[in-house]
Formats: sequence, C-alpha cells, structure tokens
Amino acid sequence: MATAGKVIKCKAAVAWEPNKPLVMEEIEVAPPQANEVRIKVVATGVCHTDLYHLFEGMHKDGFPAVLGHEGAGIVESVGPGVTEFQPGDKVIPLFISQCKECRFCKSPKTNQCEKGWAADRHDVMSDKDTRFTCKGKKILQFMGTSTFSEYTVVNQMAVAKIDPAAPLDKVCLLGCGVCTGYGAAVNTAKVEEGSTCAVFGLGAVGLAAVMGCKNAGAKRIIAVDINPDKFEKAKVFGANEFVNPKDHDKPISQVLSEMTNGGVDYSLECVGNVGVMRSALESTVQGWGVSVIVGWNNIHEFSGQPIQLIAGRTWKGALFGGFKSKDSVPEMVKAYMNKKVMVDEFITHNLTLDQINDAIEMMKHGKCIRTVLNVSPQ
Ligand SMILES: NC(=O)c1ccc[n+]([C@@H]2O[C@H](COP(=O)([O-])OP(=O)(O)OC[C@H]3O[C@@H](n4cnc5c(N)ncnc54)[C@H](O)[C@@H]3O)[C@@H](O)[C@H]2O)c1
Ligand SMILES: [Zn+2]
Ligand SMILES: [Zn+2]
Repeated sequence: MATAGKVIKCKAAVAWEPNKPLVMEEIEVAPPQANEVRIKVVATGVCHTDLYHLFEGMHKDGFPAVLGHEGAGIVESVGPGVTEFQPGDKVIPLFISQCKECRFCKSPKTNQCEKGWAADRHDVMSDKDTRFTCKGKKILQFMGTSTFSEYTVVNQMAVAKIDPAAPLDKVCLLGCGVCTGYGAAVNTAKVEEGSTCAVFGLGAVGLAAVMGCKNAGAKRIIAVDINPDKFEKAKVFGANEFVNPKDHDKPISQVLSEMTNGGVDYSLECVGNVGVMRSALESTVQGWGVSVIVGWNNIHEFSGQPIQLIAGRTWKGALFGGFKSKDSVPEMVKAYMNKKVMVDEFITHNLTLDQINDAIEMMKHGKCIRTVLNVSPQ
C-alpha cells in the first residue's frame, strides 16, 4: 500500500469544543504503532452517545475530539506485531475492547475488559493515546474509535474482522446501537419465552432491544416513548403494545402495572434519563422483575426505594449489550447475513460525512432512527 508507514492527511469532523457544531477539517493520522491497525472508515452511524458527549456530558478533558463509534471499514495498514489483520480486511472498530487476557476477558460473567480506553477514562470518554493531530493540536479519539474520520487507528484488541461479503454501510450499526439493545435483552435481561417486556425509548438502541425481546420469544412487548412517531417502526421489530407517557396523568409505572397485572417481567431503559430508569424499575413485577439500564448517563444520580429491590426485583446495566465484542460482532454480522437479525430497518437516512451536523440535528429532534454517513468509497 502506498500509504503504509506514512502519515495520512484526510477529512474528519472535529468536535473542537462541547455544545458546538462539528467542523470538517483536514487531520493527520499517524501510522499504526505496535499492535495497532489503521482503518479506512467506509461508513458510520450516529449514536446518541456521540450527542451525549457533545451536549450533555461535555467533559472538559474530552475535547477536542473526533466522535463516532459505530463504524465499519477496511484495514489500510497494520503496525508491528499484528498478525490477525491484513490490508483489505473488512472490520468493525470496537468501543469496548476484548484483550482475551485480562481477568474480565477470562470471565464468562462480563464483557468488560481492563485494557481499553474505558478502563480508566469512562468519564472522559476518550483514549489518552491518539494518532490524530490537526493544526498542530492533539485530537482525542472518542471511545477509542473516532469513526467520523476517513481514517482511524485502533488497537487490534478493539477491532473485529467480519465477513468480507458484509455491506459496510449496513453492518456499521452492529458496532454499537443494534448489538447494545439486542444484547441487553438476550444477554443481560435474559428475556424468557412467553414473558412480558417493556422497552423505554425507541431509538435504534430501544428498537434493537424490542427485536431481542421478540427473538427471545416474549409474548407481550410494550413499547414506551414520548414521541409517538416511533411506534410504527417499533411494530416492525415486534412490539405489540404502545404507550406514550404523555397520554397519561398517572406515573407510567402505574400504567404498566395495571396493564400487566402487577408489572412486566423485564424492562429495558434505552433513554439515558435517571427518572426513566427509576420508572422502568418500578414497572417490573415484584418477586422476579428484571430491569436493565442501557441508556448512558454519568452526570446525574439515580434514586429509588430499597423496598423495590427487597421485594425481589433486580436492577442491572449493560455496556454493549453484554457482548464480548471481538467474539460477538462477527457472529452478529453472520446473523444479519443469515437474516436472523434485522439491521437495514434501523436506517432512516443516508448522508455523507460532511453532512454530519444535519444528522446530529435530526437525532436531537427525534427525526431519525439511524443516519448512516458514507465516509469513504468501499
Ligand atoms: N450502554 C451502552 O453500551 C450504550 C450504547 C449505545 C447507546 N447507549 C445509550 O442508549 C440511549 C439510546 O440511544 P439511541 O441512539 O437509541 O438514542 P435516540 O436519541 O435515537 O433514542 C432515544 C429515544 O428515547 C425517547 N425518550 C426520550 N425521553 C423519553 C422518556 N421520558 N420516556 C420514554 N422515551 C423517551 C426519545 O423520544 C427517543 O425515541 C442513549 O442514552 C445512548 O447514549 C448506551
Ligand atoms: Zn453508541
Ligand atoms: Zn481484557
């Protein structure tokens, strides 16, 4: 490859500071170092967690950064020590690593890994190492991935090699939203056949949770959102009842409890709002109800009554749907290719990287499920 070993100058959307539009810039991407892979990003989704960092979390040490963590691309070159990847491989960069050596990776109980950026930088939401510079300044790699760039560099423990036949402008969504929601239902809640579920928030993450509930055999899937435009889409993924909290004077947990003779078996919070997290917990049935927090929030504290848990409910959370990332993403790509999981149905808009701010505005205003940005030609 003509570019191997050299600095690549390319286009990226830079978040110079919080709460401001992203700026298209020319950045320099250094060659991959030991155990790193440089990837030409072909397509990327825009996830609410990108918006969270930009508009809600706004961590002072988290800027300037290149956002984006739901991408797919092609390996351009590899650094010393990389044997698993070759130029030309189709890959998905992973915001949660799987080193396969640490105590977390060795445990079947979790998908957390202590080696990636998340180990000590959860609050900042970006890696301390970066291969990006722009105008002489170091630019951080958001969630270790930074897919809003034509090229990125990722440690091989956070890259999944996928089926070369997979369409990158679709399977990029398996890099975050779809796996996150789907896995939260099947891996974390462990939804059972014949059960009753409620999913709060019907963005891509919530809709993927609906799909997980459906594939696990849930009988009743109650879709909850304050934006009724989302209900049509939720039907496609298997929801069969729809509740808009704005249509009720009573607390939503009471509404669901009355609908289900005491509460749902499983609830999934896919909004990122601590009040909704509490409602989701309180919507589950005493004795065995399980509520999973999927929505991202690191700034507000949640509260609840201990009796809710004493009465036998379980409150848990999941990162990336509990999937061990490197092992599971290629499997999920296969499941998509074999039509076992839907992906295309999440995509409501296709734009190019330089239209990124339009994609962000649409998500902010609930006008899209997922926008896929074409970053470079395949
Ligand atoms: N845990 C993880 O690993 C992980 C990964 C990806 C995303 N996330 C988080 O998941 C959440 C959802 O992401 P997304 O990309 O689907 O976002 P999105 O913005 O597309 O969807 C959020 C949905 O929640 C709805 N909503 C807002 N307030 C509500 C309320 N009070 N009650 C019910 N519904 C409400 C909105 O109308 C919208 O449909 C975000 O918080 C995101 O940061 C977590
Ligand atoms: Zn995400
Ligand atoms: Zn590990």
